[in-house]
Amino acid sequence: MNAPALKTEIEPVAIPAGVYAETVTEVHHYTDRLFRFRMTRPAEFRFRSGEFAMIGLMIDGKPLYRAYSVASPAWDEELEFFSIKVPDGPLTSHLQNLQIGDTVLMRKKPTGTLVNDALLPGKRLYMFSTGTGIAPFASLIRDPETYEKFEEVILVHTCREVSELKYGFDLVEEIRNHEFLSEIAGVKLKHYATVTRDANYPHQGRVTDLMRNGKLFTDLGVPPIDPEIDRGMICGSAAMLKETKQLLIDAGLNEGANSKPGEFVIERAFVD
Ligand code: A2P
Repeated sequence: MNAPALKTEIEPVAIPAGVYAETVTEVHHYTDRLFRFRMTRPAEFRFRSGEFAMIGLMIDGKPLYRAYSVASPAWDEELEFFSIKVPDGPLTSHLQNLQIGDTVLMRKKPTGTLVNDALLPGKRLYMFSTGTGIAPFASLIRDPETYEKFEEVILVHTCREVSELKYGFDLVEEIRNHEFLSEIAGVKLKHYATVTRDANYPHQGRVTDLMRNGKLFTDLGVPPIDPEIDRGMICGSAAMLKETKQLLIDAGLNEGANSKPGEFVIERAFVD
């Protein structure tokens, strides 16, 4: 006679359909407002560098998602995210407590316009970012394709304080020390960081003001923006997007999309 089948007493964790449940592998807090985490990547999850995904947590038995740019490049075997911490934020107030081994949910379909495909060919690519808006560019500057398409890649990052620039500095240093990327990015990659509320740094002011008064270009040793040569990607707050977009339009650039590539593309940074 066969033994009766064992009945399991453990309730399976209810993972919603169409969602991956991944494991946190690393958490790094930069300031009391910013942190990064890495997690496992499902083998079949494909995305283009610069895209975002909906990531979330089960909160009170229900999944809560927000859009997050994938900060790691398409070739990376893990996924990285760079997040703000909002004390009362519906998701970030929980997400900031992540520990290694915790589960993070991710919807299966990535999307986004900050991708190389949405830009017409050009020579110089500007990535304009404020705060966590650097995340999609963290992905793109670690993707060799970006350097195949452009002769010069300029990462511009404005934050309130120097401590908030650290993620960007670490990123560029990682590239400079990387076995293959260091050669590919080489002299093509330039990093221009500025602060607005911290006297303790040589580059002061909002990226928008530095474009208007020309200091950005003088400091970088490049001519003003030219629609024949320059391409732009913008990621920041709604106000920053609006202002930077207008500056590029005034310089003669047209906005692009996946369906119709153009001379610049924009996307709002995650805020919550
Ligand atoms: P400021 O300190 O002058 O407000 P936040 O941390 O609030 O998201 O801001 C990130 C950075 O973006 C800050 O340095 C902030 O400057 C800057 N910023 C805010 N609004 C704009 C804007 N409209 N254009 C450019 N930069 C902006």
